[in-house]
Amino acid sequence: MSETAPKRYHPAWVAIHWLTALLVVMMLGVGKIVMPGIDPTDPQKPMMLQSHAYIGVAITVLLIIRLVLRFTTKRPAPADAGNAFLNFVAKAVHFLLYFFLIGMAASGMGLFQQANLPAVFSGAKPYPTNFFDYLPRMGHGLVSWLLLALVALHFGAAMFHQFIKKDNLLGRMWFGK
Ligand code: HEM
Repeated sequence: MSETAPKRYHPAWVAIHWLTALLVVMMLGVGKIVMPGIDPTDPQKPMMLQSHAYIGVAITVLLIIRLVLRFTTKRPAPADAGNAFLNFVAKAVHFLLYFFLIGMAASGMGLFQQANLPAVFSGAKPYPTNFFDYLPRMGHGLVSWLLLALVALHFGAAMFHQFIKKDNLLGRMWFGK
């Protein structure tokens, strides 16, 4: 990267990064732990799924804005993890985080359309007894595990930089001059 590479990411990028992180971790937690614990006949179930769907759409919009910023703002020079293999893994993890989030959004939209979720939310149609009757549910479940593993890896790498390499990489993903 050129000498003009900034010390930090653009503030809009930083805000989107932390908002997306918060929403994705919440969605993974709610999708894996809270939602399966609610009975399909419980009136709270469609409400829960409706919030899930809308937050999923919000994450998708943030992802699109983020991709636009990716190509329109200057970014700091790529971080150095200390060896070529780890630097390659970092690149791959960042790419796959985008890829799997797009996968979650696409399979979620597929479910929205195939299971006619607007009718479920309005009460015109009962809550589906099994979402696995719809093909995108398989992809949504599978990709959610892959995304969870990647988020853990991404978090672990940030901690490695912060506490082992002590290069304050997290500072690049925060506001300031
Ligand atoms: C983009 C971010 C999203 C994330 C991180 C996410 C996460 C999850 C997770 C972790 C599960 C449980 C999967 C499992 O353990 O098998 C789930 C289920 C589900 N999600 Fe999403 N989701 C996202 C977007 C969406 C969208 C946009 C929709 C619909 C518009 C949607 C609709 C559903 C449905 C219908 C289920 C199944 C609920 C059930 O089986 O009762 N998701 N989601």
